[in-house]
Amino acid sequence: MGNQRKKGTYKIGVIPGDGVGPEIIREGLKVLEAVRQKFSLKFELVNYDFGGERYLKTGEILPDSAIEEFRKLDAIYLGAVGHPDVKPGILEHGLLLKLRFALDQYINLRPVKLYPGVWTPIKDKGPEQIDYVVVRENTEGAYTGMGGCFKKGTPDEIAVQEDVNTRKGVERCIRYAYKVCQRRNRLKKITCCDKANVLTYAGDLWRRTLVEVGRDFPDIKQDYAFVDATTMWMIKNPEWFDVIVTNNMFGDIITDLAAVTQGGLGIAAGGNINPEGVSMFEPIHGSAPKYTGQNVICPVATIAAGGMMLDTLGETEAALAIEAAVAKATGEGHLKSLEAKKMGMSTSEAGDLLARFISG
Ligand code: IPM
Ligand code: MN
Repeated sequence: MGNQRKKGTYKIGVIPGDGVGPEIIREGLKVLEAVRQKFSLKFELVNYDFGGERYLKTGEILPDSAIEEFRKLDAIYLGAVGHPDVKPGILEHGLLLKLRFALDQYINLRPVKLYPGVWTPIKDKGPEQIDYVVVRENTEGAYTGMGGCFKKGTPDEIAVQEDVNTRKGVERCIRYAYKVCQRRNRLKKITCCDKANVLTYAGDLWRRTLVEVGRDFPDIKQDYAFVDATTMWMIKNPEWFDVIVTNNMFGDIITDLAAVTQGGLGIAAGGNINPEGVSMFEPIHGSAPKYTGQNVICPVATIAAGGMMLDTLGETEAALAIEAAVAKATGEGHLKSLEAKKMGMSTSEAGDLLARFISG
């Protein structure tokens, strides 16, 4: 999707971030350089040093001026943010969530694909059975920060955190999910994951919208699953799924579970997408401070995120080339594992290998 933006020259903001972020982004850029040569693309890379290190030095997380600059980019490529000396929540809110909201990246796209040769903890399931996409709403739900507290610190304390669902937000998310489903052309099935048996107002809005938007996609089957049952089926019958569409919080939870079924954080990538604007792509793992600078972390998730970035920019062939390189590396046993220290090679060797597969 986003084919209308295909243009061959892209200005990409690069945020290596903290911990292992710089070493994985280095390999991601290595692979992007290989596809650039092969497909005659042009990248203008702009580096940004936002993250925990800069915050500790300057107190600045992400100034508004940076966001204004980001609006002029074609995409953002993010390594990882998170620093052991920064209290949890500060960088998440100040950087990641701020960017999602400011750039209205209303989709969180999480492909769940078991590549050949990759170990999954689900017995008897293989690449045929684990191949679906989660489309997570990314700017509403429980993430808006709406709510408040009262009588804090007393026995009568009240904390209210609202689950916000707007017709506009739900509709654009569901419409995007249908388009993903149409393009995949696989089971032609969209599963609305909710908790409509308890969260009745929100559930009703999502389900009505699924039906209404579905009128524009008559060949796509509509299905519903409560979120608790969804987690069960993701393990027991992952082959039932093609596209799962869900709210922000449920999507956050089920995509960590999904990641582990596709071989874990070494390979799971995500996109924070504004189909009409500037999107951001990242491995879904964190900054893994304990492995920093050791050249032992798996760069495949970051490389796959680079592939998603190209796909969203409309460079389908280049994206497919990255996917094929990953499949070759795992399927032919070049990578022994996707876990840190267990790959049978270093981070930079893994990047070299994938770049070489692309160059041919
Ligand atoms: C994710 C992360 C974020 C989220 C955190 C870091 C704020 O878990 O991208 O899934 O909850 O969305
Ligand atoms: Mn998460």
